[in-house]
Amino acid sequence: MDKDISPELKNLDHKQKLIRSFGRVKSRKLSLHKNFLLENFYQSYEISKIDNAISKNFLEIGFGFGDFIFANAKQHSDVNFYGCEPHLNGIVNLLGMLEKEPLNNLKITNQDIRIFINNFPDHFFEKIFILFPDPWPKYKHFKRRLINKNFLEQIIYPKLKNNGKIIIATDHDSYKTWILSHILKSSKFKWLASSKKSWQNFPTDWIITKYQKKALLEGREPILIEIEKHDR
Ligand SMILES: C[S@@+](CC[C@H](N)C(=O)[O-])C[C@H]1O[C@@H](n2cnc3c(N)ncnc32)[C@H](O)[C@@H]1O
Repeated sequence: MDKDISPELKNLDHKQKLIRSFGRVKSRKLSLHKNFLLENFYQSYEISKIDNAISKNFLEIGFGFGDFIFANAKQHSDVNFYGCEPHLNGIVNLLGMLEKEPLNNLKITNQDIRIFINNFPDHFFEKIFILFPDPWPKYKHFKRRLINKNFLEQIIYPKLKNNGKIIIATDHDSYKTWILSHILKSSKFKWLASSKKSWQNFPTDWIITKYQKKALLEGREPILIEIEKHDR
């Protein structure tokens, strides 16, 4: 399961010396069944062929335990959902749900999106979700934050359709400010908030993720930042 779709991407990783933006890839020992899912079931959901024929393609970066992407793929069978998550406990959790309820419009990878995204054609995604990205709160770890101007402009921008959207949720005050400052520095995206209230309102059919639940339980206010690619 560690094979790359494009072997040359390994060199790219090496050349760019990407700073790791995620924590451990395995946090808890996997049960026999979970190991079985990883060994035998992952392949059938692994992104191996990109289907350009369907017009709607959504991507979730860092899907965690997979609750959001699974429920959305189930609800919107006309959309192709692609998910990316290096944390294996998250991958097997999603595979467990797919074992019970198979879906043919959902494909995943355990690789770093900053490398893997090169497998998708340009102008491919209508929406890209990044929900509760790791905030890396210590100053010395800011460099690990996934979202920055370079990530938005060099990595994500080419893969979005014109007027495609990035939907970011966070509950972390300093990351909130950081994300907005990087967005506002970029001329390639337009922030869609019409008022402060609009970023506090999650859509009524929104699926609350594990990290969102944790934030709410601990009294932090999650916000939604929606930005649109400028049509040029
Ligand atoms: C704090 S968790 C949030 C998980 C989930 N979105 C939620 O709301 O419950 C952030 C996730 O982003 C993933 N992540 C971090 N850097 C990534 C990268 N470069 N490519 C893909 N996923 C990444 C991490 O592995 C982690 O599971």
